Amino acid sequence: MLGTPEREQIARLWARKVEQDAAHIPQPQRHRNLEPASAEFLYSLAVGIGAKRMVEIGGSSGISTIALAAAARVSGGRVISIEIEPQRQAEARVTMARLELASYVDFVLEDAAAVLPTTGPLELAFLDCEKEDYIRFFDMLRLSASGVVVADNILSHSMTGYVRHVRARPGVESITLPIGQGLELTRLPMPA
Ligand SMILES: C[S@@+](CC[C@H](N)C(=O)[O-])C[C@H]1O[C@@H](n2cnc3c(N)ncnc32)[C@H](O)[C@@H]1O
Repeated sequence: MLGTPEREQIARLWARKVEQDAAHIPQPQRHRNLEPASAEFLYSLAVGIGAKRMVEIGGSSGISTIALAAAARVSGGRVISIEIEPQRQAEARVTMARLELASYVDFVLEDAAAVLPTTGPLELAFLDCEKEDYIRFFDMLRLSASGVVVADNILSHSMTGYVRHVRARPGVESITLPIGQGLELTRLPMPA
């Protein structure tokens, strides 16, 4: 489970997101964030598999970054946090510094399409960007054997094409979990 300081920051970010949604602020100015329950799941998964090399695509202002960096602190790992929008990432940097988690994160301000070919093999990848990019970015991931991919908004955005795509890969195991907006949890084949 996440600790109190991490939960407090997640609650602060989530409360603002809910407020902005209720005020119908235009999408480009709104902070889009991961549901707190999904952050708890992500943290527990990453700790459970002892993930050391992780990436998130779409860090935004940092709820998933908190979860993955807190897990990296436990596993002795690191997170590559990719975000294309500078203000959101600047805010995530401040939050991570406040939580003393910044040293577990490599922040990259860039289109994920340019970054994914440069990563080493990954044990956990989190997809939370524009939904039309999920399949393209899934295919670009450099995953280690038995690496795990979590994708958000599977139920809220009816991501059936993505689900079909990942499940068609030989040896892959994949399940949709009704947590938050719906998470697709996909695991590559275990090594022989
Ligand atoms: C739903 S938000 C992510 C929420 C975040 N994971 C959290 O936990 O708070 C999606 C983010 O993906 C970013 N994004 C969209 N396309 C991207 C791309 N090609 N490369 C990097 N970031 C991208 C957007 O700028 C936006 O901040």
